[in-house]
Amino acid sequence: MTSTVLVTGGAGYIGSHTCLRLLECGYRVIVLDNFSNSSPEALNRVQSLTGKTLEIITGDVNDGAALNTLFARHQIDAVVHFAGLKAVGESVAEPLMYYHNNVSGAVSLLQAMQSAGVRDLVFSSSATVYGDPASLPITEDFPTSTTNPYGRSKLMIEEMLRDLYRSDASWNLALLRYFNPVGAHPSGQIGEDPAGIPNNLLPYIAQVAVGRREHLSVFGGDYETHDGTGVRDYIHVMDLAEGHVKALQWLTRKQGLAAFNLGTGSGYSVLDMLHAFERACGKTLAYQIVDRRPGDVGSCYADPTLAARELDWKAERGVNAMCADAWRWQQQNPNGYN
Ligand code: NAD
Ligand code: UFG
Repeated sequence: MTSTVLVTGGAGYIGSHTCLRLLECGYRVIVLDNFSNSSPEALNRVQSLTGKTLEIITGDVNDGAALNTLFARHQIDAVVHFAGLKAVGESVAEPLMYYHNNVSGAVSLLQAMQSAGVRDLVFSSSATVYGDPASLPITEDFPTSTTNPYGRSKLMIEEMLRDLYRSDASWNLALLRYFNPVGAHPSGQIGEDPAGIPNNLLPYIAQVAVGRREHLSVFGGDYETHDGTGVRDYIHVMDLAEGHVKALQWLTRKQGLAAFNLGTGSGYSVLDMLHAFERACGKTLAYQIVDRRPGDVGSCYADPTLAARELDWKAERGVNAMCADAWRWQQQNPNGYN
């Protein structure tokens, strides 16, 4: 029997790649998105790349009545919940917007699932819940802490899911803690399309490479890392998409709640990534080392052993593929989906 998955935020960066993978794997996919940070064009392209159809519903996860109608009209087997806001700096300036959109949005989605008897959920959490880790690599049992409202919204939702599971063990919950998602589908047709000046490293480098920005500002050259710049665990978005398919399969095999790191297990510095991108695009890219960005940690990378063992998932793509695919997307779509 074909499983039907509701994907909230399915038009966004990670959501669109995951919808593509779910269609390829034979799932029926319903997308709920308010398009506050995405374009319907991403979903048009997912459909033309796969030759399959998505059901697309324009709506907000905070709209409980619309959610109840959606669950009444469709036989949904599982939900993948991406919908949320994700800009750390904006969350400091507008905390209520983040708590409303992310935390209230999750409450309203879970209430609708509860009423409809849908119990399987894959939730987009983040490595940000580990704060400044005491040691590396990070395993799922590390203490959690956060430094900003965005991170706290993720942690609050994780805690809420634990409470829900304690109250009713028929819930089946996979909490995926993503490290640093980068790259694009190898076709160059879908990718990351940040609004305004990119906050994240790879989209910023890509815009320097395409000539939209003059140089990269490297935030800090005095961290305790091999070249002084910050180290992260970059993960190809197609590997991440595969992780969601594996998590859905895990939900059908096991009953319970678990958090999984989705990362490669390897750390690369800002300058490592800049040089990998230079190799991908065949250009030298200008950069300047400036002060550290407040709130940044020096190094962060995953121990992905648990996901390998429980989900049968492992990241397959390295930094060269991440940069080559990000560059293809950037070159073919210099202004994103517009
Ligand atoms: P994104 O902004 O590209 O996608 C989020 C999608 O959700 C967008 O299409 C947006 O329009 C939609 N959305 C937002 N609020 C909504 C609402 N109230 N109702 C309906 N739709 C809504 O972000 P992304 O990078 O694809 O991230 C997806 C999820 O993964 C987010 O929850 C994010 O916090 C989490 N995450 C992202 C990263 C990252 O670096 N990209 C890292 C860790 C975790
Ligand atoms: N960096 C620069 N210059 C830039 C942008 C970033 O030097 O213009 C550096 C940062 O200082 C950091 C590294 O590049 O060392 C990565 O920065 P990103 O902003 O791309 O990613 P972060 O690790 O800061 O945060 C990301 C997401 C968060 C998420 C976290 C953990 O943006 O939402 O990964 O998953 F919580």
